[in-house]
Amino acid sequence: MIPVIAIDGPTASGKGTVAQLVAQALGYHYLDSGAIYRLAALTSLRAGLAADDEPALASLAALAAGLDIRFMDGQIWLSGESVGDTIRAEEIGNLASAIAVFPALRQALLARQQAFRRAPGLVADGRDMGTIVFPDAGLKVFLTASAEVRAQRRYKQLIEKGFPASISTLLQDLKDRDARDANRAAAPLKPAEGASVLDTTEMTVDQAVAQVLAWQAQKTSS
Ligand code: DC
Repeated sequence: MIPVIAIDGPTASGKGTVAQLVAQALGYHYLDSGAIYRLAALTSLRAGLAADDEPALASLAALAAGLDIRFMDGQIWLSGESVGDTIRAEEIGNLASAIAVFPALRQALLARQQAFRRAPGLVADGRDMGTIVFPDAGLKVFLTASAEVRAQRRYKQLIEKGFPASISTLLQDLKDRDARDANRAAAPLKPAEGASVLDTTEMTVDQAVAQVLAWQAQKTSS
């Protein structure tokens, strides 16, 4: 069985950075499942579909199942177009969260995410990696941090990418997104059973990575 490390958590918790570094350290593949939801959001935006229009979202689910998505050379490609930076915009993240409540869309994206499980192993980050997509993951981590620290991290990330940002708007958006992701009926954000909780509010990235690697070493030696 190909090993999986599932790293779930709220927005801007740092799970993407930590997951990528853990994958690098172990020589594993990496799945950014949020990027897949963001690509679906970008597709729905471009197709002019409203996020609260269920029939439109049913057609999005069909579209999403066939999206030409590639993670290559550190970039994200949608039908041959490099969209890695475009999908990082807050507008796309919020739309991704809005459409992610629809079970048909989640179902359409499930097999695509599971296909990332390849030897020698996978580190997957998202909201439901440990609960739904890889329930048999050998290590499940729930990575979190205070809303204030997450807003600051997201602010830094956006400014570095040249996007305009305001801390107070980000903090409010982030709280709204947490509430929506955690309270939806389909695959809500919550620690998986048996998940190790890692609160990184007062941790550096290196400390968080070291902790996940230590947990993984424990699992593989026991
Ligand atoms: O991790 P992120 O901020 O890139 O994710 C964007 C949104 O996509 C998130 O707010 C909810 C949705 N999402 C999801 O529902 N399930 C996942 N496994 C990953 C993301």
